Amino acid sequence: MNKASLISIASYVPSKVLSNYDLEKIVDTSDEWITKRTGIKERHIAQNEITSDLGTKAARVAIRRSGLKESEIDAIICATLSPDHFCMPSTATKIAKNLELNPGIMAFDISAACTGFIYLLELAKSLVQSGIKKNVLIVGAEKVSSIIDYTDRSTCILFGDGAGAGVVSLSDENEIIDTHTASDGRYGELLITPAPGSLYPSSQEVLDKKLNFLKMSGNEVFKIAVQTLTKDVLEIMQKNKIASEEIDLFIPHQANLRIIEAVKQRLDFKDEQCVVTIHKYGNTSSASIPMAMNDAYEDGRLKNGSLILLDAFGGGFTWGSALLKFGGKDFKDLE
Ligand code: UT7
Repeated sequence: MNKASLISIASYVPSKVLSNYDLEKIVDTSDEWITKRTGIKERHIAQNEITSDLGTKAARVAIRRSGLKESEIDAIICATLSPDHFCMPSTATKIAKNLELNPGIMAFDISAACTGFIYLLELAKSLVQSGIKKNVLIVGAEKVSSIIDYTDRSTCILFGDGAGAGVVSLSDENEIIDTHTASDGRYGELLITPAPGSLYPSSQEVLDKKLNFLKMSGNEVFKIAVQTLTKDVLEIMQKNKIASEEIDLFIPHQANLRIIEAVKQRLDFKDEQCVVTIHKYGNTSSASIPMAMNDAYEDGRLKNGSLILLDAFGGGFTWGSALLKFGGKDFKDLE
């Protein structure tokens, strides 16, 4: 059977840094509270760039690192909860245009919130293994700051902007071993951007009630995230008969250091197996996993053939996990 492999990874982070001390000047919060409750010290905010710009910059590097030409990419899928436009055109089509990918290429966005990159891996794997596509560009790109209410201290301290991208291609080795994607719409109200949409089209009332901003029942989300992720990660390891100590890197979605620590402890991962970037970037939703992967890649921890485990949880609710061997060249061997 055909095998699909993630053959490159890259990220892009906008330059402006918003620190906890900056936020102290905007809302009633403190560096101490944010650090203790979330592990976040700073996040990056896009100023004169939009989501497709961030995605384009990460994707350009991901294609270069894959060793492929732009013309060999035959599909692009972008996961985002902060698209350039809420209806159309998709952010994926704009990234395709920016990169001058082949006109006629399949391009679309998916809405799976913070679980976006796991959904992307499953979709890309399916497309490649079925023989429908050869080289699928996957992008998690977010300008979350565009849907954040900077007077709401319970959300504005959490999120940041950024993008991560990779290419999934046919390969004999280092395959995407398994992916699991899931959802439960009964919890939709707990993490929601109510407008604009068919329920609440743009109106003065939407603006007055701030329905265009992300709203989260943080504590409830937290508890369900810990339980769900622990179970999900355990299941994918058991299904594939892999023990914690065999995993080279555990790269979780970066939403809260306490969630990462809880899952890590329950599943017996050691500190050196865990990739943590939340202190630098905050929660960048669908971009958080590929951004964390890229940090581990550039500092030499993520290598060709590394066995990695990913997990994510987000609005919807959606959640999922992925087990793969990284198929890219070692960072030091890139030309
Ligand atoms: O990526 C998608 C998935 N997202 C997540 O998984 C996020 C999950 N949730 C969380 O990470 C945490 O719930 C938060 C970090 C959002 C909040 O931490 P918490 O420990 O659950 O705090 P809480 O919401 O229970 O609030 C505790 C207190 C409240 O005050 P009172 O009612 O006890 O007086 C809040 O008003 O902390 C207060 N508070 C703050 N204080 C200072 C909330 N936000 C802040 C703040 N600064 N920024």
